[in-house]
Amino acid sequence: MNTRLRSLVVAALSLYLWGAVAAGAAGEVTLGGSFHLIDQDGKPRTDADFRGAYPLIYFGFTRCPDLCPRSLGTMTAALDELEQRAPDKAGRVTPIFITVDPERDDAATIKSYIAAFHPRLVGLTGAAEEIDRVTRDYGAFYAPVPQQGGDYAMDHSGFILLMGPAGEYLTHFESSVGAEELARELEQRVAP
Ligand code: NI
Repeated sequence: MNTRLRSLVVAALSLYLWGAVAAGAAGEVTLGGSFHLIDQDGKPRTDADFRGAYPLIYFGFTRCPDLCPRSLGTMTAALDELEQRAPDKAGRVTPIFITVDPERDDAATIKSYIAAFHPRLVGLTGAAEEIDRVTRDYGAFYAPVPQQGGDYAMDHSGFILLMGPAGEYLTHFESSVGAEELARELEQRVAP
């Protein structure tokens, strides 16, 4: 996709997320909710498994050429930084990668992909309908983009969501956030 079209898509996705967050402030729509997915070891995982932690969630797909590796790299570097400054707080943050391409991203594929990032990164996949629902509930967006030869890529929102220990939405970060800034924000938001 060319740069101009991509920036239009990114702007539209930001508005989409912002709409959900703004509606949440009015008490009508909130981000978050229950899910039933499968982790990189094939083990069933639900939102309840992450109660008490601060899930730091990113939606993407393992074949993503740029946005996903960069964002997961930022999350990893931010947690490494927080580990140095406030190890107890770092330990309470659970980084999570949820695929928007469950057809190609099975547990084994995700497992080998996330090995390049933070050692505590949890990778989640699941049934297409469940991925569709969790993506929507958490304010994310994705859309397949056909490519030559019958292949496809995925356009997707690139923000990083921070949820609280009761599963509540706390805040989100744009994909352009730096590791240093993300670490600082996490240090402020995570309870001692
Ligand atoms: Ni991506």
